[in-house]
Amino acid sequence: MLGSQELAPTLQKKRPGLGRRGETLRRCRDNELAYANDMRLSLSINSLRLIAWIAVLPVASAAQTPMKAIVIHSSGGPEVLKYEDVPRPQAKDDDILIRVMAAAVNPVDVFIREGRITHFPLIPGMDVAGVVEETGNKVTKFKRGDAIYAYLSFEEQGGYAEFAVTKQDHAALKPKSVDFEHAAAVPLAATTAWQALIEKAGLSAGQTVLIHGGSGGVGTFAVQIAKARGAKVIATASTANQDLLKKLGVDQPIDYTTTKFEDVVKNVDFVLNAVRGDTLARSYGVVKKGGIIVSITGEPDPAELEKHGIRGTGLGAHPDAKVLEELAKLIDTGKITPIVSAVMPLVDVAKAHQQIASRHTRGKVVLKVAEPPGQSPRD
Ligand SMILES: NC(=O)c1ccc[n+]([C@@H]2O[C@H](COP(=O)([O-])OP(=O)(O)OC[C@H]3O[C@@H](n4cnc5c(N)ncnc54)[C@H](OP(=O)(O)O)[C@@H]3O)[C@@H](O)[C@H]2O)c1
Repeated sequence: MLGSQELAPTLQKKRPGLGRRGETLRRCRDNELAYANDMRLSLSINSLRLIAWIAVLPVASAAQTPMKAIVIHSSGGPEVLKYEDVPRPQAKDDDILIRVMAAAVNPVDVFIREGRITHFPLIPGMDVAGVVEETGNKVTKFKRGDAIYAYLSFEEQGGYAEFAVTKQDHAALKPKSVDFEHAAAVPLAATTAWQALIEKAGLSAGQTVLIHGGSGGVGTFAVQIAKARGAKVIATASTANQDLLKKLGVDQPIDYTTTKFEDVVKNVDFVLNAVRGDTLARSYGVVKKGGIIVSITGEPDPAELEKHGIRGTGLGAHPDAKVLEELAKLIDTGKITPIVSAVMPLVDVAKAHQQIASRHTRGKVVLKVAEPPGQSPRD
């Protein structure tokens, strides 16, 4: 075990002129951090510096208890993901410190690693499931030992680690019916699907929805949420994922490698675009008048929306404990099953990033960080 002096010196270094965490967060908000449209980050250089700093701050100010984490010191390919000893973060105020059992990998993690944030070091990861280790003095919702899952905000990051810190309002009790790996797969992807379908589109029973990318992280949740709402679901995926679409309950699966969706789909109430490429541009004509397109990979074109008499919007998903609570109910009543195509140990993070970067992942890829309580030799 490393001594405190040897712990990742770059992470412990104080950065001049940035003051306390609260002050920094205020300044960050003032700089209007915008995280939207396929995670295209419209951030000023100042915001980028602040976010990178915030992401490592819990580590920088921590007591010197070590933990293992994946640290990015500079942008690049999967090889820049380093497995290191760093100081454990601490929970302050309304923070909870989570002993992480599993962390999911999202496309945004790949963008971050590739340098959308120019200032490192940074511990990436926005999806975790684990157990509350410690609570800040203003925490009212959780106590030590609670099994929870959380959607760490873009500013927080830090999920690829043995311990992570988040606000209590970014976490909820973990669904009881699934293990930590399946719980970790849920927060960011399923919240995105929920915010698109329910909050932006107001999807209701009897409506018809077309979901582009029905077999992916967001898509597999979107299909199941839409079915749980009583909607008719049309979804696209490649040949290899047609069976998965059927298993998820899709009423009309479409193989995009053999069929152009616009040839077989007309007059839907709602399109969820969870794919990059030309699917958004080809979708305007398949929505009925007054219907809506929500795109999580780029803003719809206002001129096209007007031409077709439809509405449209982009979406920047954000953590919301209330959504996690709703999702946990749907999981525990069997309405949603998280689809996890691979579970890899934390040290295999590079492989997980390669898979996600392919843009053809089935469901989610999850990193296993620790054995659940009661199954580890230290318990
Ligand atoms: N705006 C936001 O807040 C937000 C939040 C989350 C995600 N996103 C973005 O949304 C996108 C989807 O996220 P994700 O986590 O679901 O990614 P993902 O898990 O990597 O999605 C991959 C899925 O997309 C499918 N796919 C690829 N090309 C397709 C096509 N032409 N037509 C239909 N399906 C296709 C793949 O199916 P096949 O293998 O069968 O091709 C695969 O199952 C990403 O670009 C991500 O960055 C944005």
